[in-house]
Amino acid sequence: MSKLSVDHLLGIKYLNLEDIKLIFETATHFKEVINRPIKKVPSLRDVTIANLFFENSTRTKLSFELAQKRLSADVINFSASSSSLKKGETLIDTVNNILSMKVDMVVMRHPSPGAAMFLSKHVDATIVNAGDGAHEHPTQALLDSYSIDQRLGSVEGKKVVIVGDILHSRVALSNIFALQKLGAEVRVCGPKTLMPKHIESLGIIVETDLRKALDWADVANVLRVQFERMNASYFPSNREYTMQYGITQKVLEDINKPLVIMHPGPINRGVEISSEVADSDQAIILDQVENGVAIRMAVLYLLAAKR
Ligand code: NCD
Repeated sequence: MSKLSVDHLLGIKYLNLEDIKLIFETATHFKEVINRPIKKVPSLRDVTIANLFFENSTRTKLSFELAQKRLSADVINFSASSSSLKKGETLIDTVNNILSMKVDMVVMRHPSPGAAMFLSKHVDATIVNAGDGAHEHPTQALLDSYSIDQRLGSVEGKKVVIVGDILHSRVALSNIFALQKLGAEVRVCGPKTLMPKHIESLGIIVETDLRKALDWADVANVLRVQFERMNASYFPSNREYTMQYGITQKVLEDINKPLVIMHPGPINRGVEISSEVADSDQAIILDQVENGVAIRMAVLYLLAAKR
């Protein structure tokens, strides 16, 4: 069987096209498994995984945990609010203490960019990045591209626009890397104040006009405005943001062509996307969530095979 070229999943940046394709093939197998009456396989029966969440999460945490349980791994969970980090312990001390309990893999979400990479260099466990600050969120990008593949038959040649708060989004950066590796064309759309300074150096066209961006695209991946990461005012008001960049039924009627709508969640209903659109058949938001479990099973399974 083929193997991944990496020992950890730190970012999409470090994967090659074969890795991504292998993850997709494996996910398709697991998607079939989780739709059976008995949704469980014994593949990771000897593997112990710690989920370390130093930043809040609903979907990602539940999705990883479910993926681990479907693979029969032993799972321990730990979140920052209840930990000794509050007492001043360093990240490496915390993790080494957990590893002395014979943990094989660590799935970590952390507010600092590079935290997962740092950990992979200092502790003896397989590391999966579940989001490091505004840097990368590789499993989200994998499940997003996989969902496009499932809906449209391929990612190659598709035109994908990522709309919204690109500046604060790890989902945006990981999606850009994944989509480019898979041969999609990528643009970003949003207010100039929410664009990272050097985004064009990634070969990305920035479009500030939403209608033009949607007219061009096959897929719109709509991102949440990350109010909690903002330490300044990036646009005049929510109402103004919605008027210019909100995806509403009216906007979709105006462009008058099929467009697949995605959102990684959590949704700010009525801000970046209207409820009507989020709940419509055009939106594949809940397919993304379903595919997320299969993708995470694939990632954990393939990384465990490298140990
Ligand atoms: C994203 C995240 O945490 O980066 N959500 C997710 O993982 N499903 C995006 C967000 O918080 O808006």
